[in-house]
Amino acid sequence: MKVVVSIGGSVLVPDLEAGRVSGHAAAVEELADAGCTVGAVVGGGPTAREYVGTARELGANEIALDELGIATTRLNAKLLVAALEGRAAPKVPEDYESAGEVLRREEVVVMGGVAPGQTTDAVSAALAEYVDADLLVYATSVPGVYSDDPNEVADAEKFHEMTPGELVDLIAGDEMRAATSAPVDLLAAKLIERSGTRTVVLDGTDPSAITDAVLRGEHGGTDVVPAGSEEPSYWAER
Ligand code: UTP
Repeated sequence: MKVVVSIGGSVLVPDLEAGRVSGHAAAVEELADAGCTVGAVVGGGPTAREYVGTARELGANEIALDELGIATTRLNAKLLVAALEGRAAPKVPEDYESAGEVLRREEVVVMGGVAPGQTTDAVSAALAEYVDADLLVYATSVPGVYSDDPNEVADAEKFHEMTPGELVDLIAGDEMRAATSAPVDLLAAKLIERSGTRTVVLDGTDPSAITDAVLRGEHGGTDVVPAGSEEPSYWAER
């Protein structure tokens, strides 16, 4: 089974704590040990926000800010590579072709951002499309996709299952309302819809949530199921 795991920066490095990073590295290793081909994409988190905030005050333009953001995602990716202690390719690829080459060798690959104007949500969806992944997992700091912003709307409902088209419509609606009910952005959702990649959005704060979802299909988040896709009986065997 080929899986792309998107690990948000606020999940992996809300602060720089070795134990947290090694916990996520152990989850990636467990997937690889179970026979999965694993691509991990790491976000920028608070480090990115600090750099971008300071550079914005200094008058940097949006592309320059994105480049700073990308640099921090790659820095965080290097931290996960370090925690993987030789299990992952040492170089953090800067494009999908290079990442795909590593995966073809059945090595673990860890990458960050790719190009300005997007986030690692989209990078993860694009990598999953490029390598034809069986599953894409967004390990975020929220429990799934909601009908409304759960911080603002008390009876916001969590979706257990939805189609990629429903995800796109929900996020496009959010952009009109300036609300946030989905922890995945619109470009990522559109790529998921285009590729028909089966996707799970979950709270990845506890790394065992990622392994439970990938290896056993058990999670408390949101399943994004393309029309016509079959329910796998045992995920690790796919
Ligand atoms: P993130 O993927 O962490 O963005 O990349 P985010 O969604 O804003 O962060 P979280 O999930 O809320 O923590 C950090 C920044 O890096 C730039 C963007 O500016 C992004 O906001 N970036 C990242 C790119 O420009 N291109 C990429 O391919 C990736």
